[in-house]
Amino acid sequence: MKSLALNHLHKTYFDPYAGAQVTAVRDLDLQVEPGEFVAVVGPSGCGKTTLLNMIAGFLPASGGQILVDGHPVRGPGPDRGVVFQSFALFPWKTVLDNVAFGPKMRGMPRAEREALAREFLELAGLSHAAARYPNELSGGMQQRVGVVRALANHPDVLLMDEPFASVDAQTRMTLQEELSRIWQERRTTVVFITHDVSEAVFLANRVVALSKGRVLAEVPVPLPLPRRWESLLNDETFKSLSAQVLQLVRSA
Ligand SMILES: Nc1ncnc2c1ncn2[C@@H]1O[C@H](COP(=O)(O)OP(=O)(O)O)[C@@H](O)[C@H]1O
Ligand SMILES: [Mg+2]
Repeated sequence: MKSLALNHLHKTYFDPYAGAQVTAVRDLDLQVEPGEFVAVVGPSGCGKTTLLNMIAGFLPASGGQILVDGHPVRGPGPDRGVVFQSFALFPWKTVLDNVAFGPKMRGMPRAEREALAREFLELAGLSHAAARYPNELSGGMQQRVGVVRALANHPDVLLMDEPFASVDAQTRMTLQEELSRIWQERRTTVVFITHDVSEAVFLANRVVALSKGRVLAEVPVPLPLPRRWESLLNDETFKSLSAQVLQLVRSA
């Protein structure tokens, strides 16, 4: 559980069509406390993926600084786990071996890493799938394996970019409920990118709305954990927070 600080973070790209620089992230400040779940929302093109890729260390910043517990980010590292919308599991490895892969790379002995992988698969309701191969799983199950594979590395910060965007609506709700429960148990620091307002309010303890590469507003979400769709859909606080965030995103 570590803090994350973005100080005056800036990113420009050269746009070859316009023959000019475009600013994707503009002098952005954001502080994420240890164990917080921050959802970043905003319309397409507002800089969400750019922001996440910089935190992950995949993309250099043009200016400013990213600190994980006070240490500057200089590239990718095991302290930050990343889950994207579409990502590949190793097709030739079983689900268990996919989840145990990160710990293996860190030199964890077989018995220990397999026990760890089983623990995480249990947490995600995937124990029955341990011996299967990725092509024997539904899209939603693959996505869940991707989430626990990232968690099994014990990242201090978990970074997710629209990880549930490509699964059907019912599966998405299940994944959101599971992620909420897992976060309640493990309290990993999470930055979760989405353009889906209700997903952001459902998962986060704080929603950050972006507009044109800047923080437009921050909305705390004081709803109890773990969150369940059946109880939240008619919850007045959930509805009014969602309406508030929706208004921000539409004005962005
Ligand atoms: N590799 C790139 N080269 C040039 N411009 C880019 C590149 N990646 C993103 N951009 C531009 O940066 C802005 C933010 O993009 P992005 O971070 O993908 O936003 P989002 O994830 O919120 O949709 C957009 O204007 C986009 O066109
Ligand atoms: Mg994006």
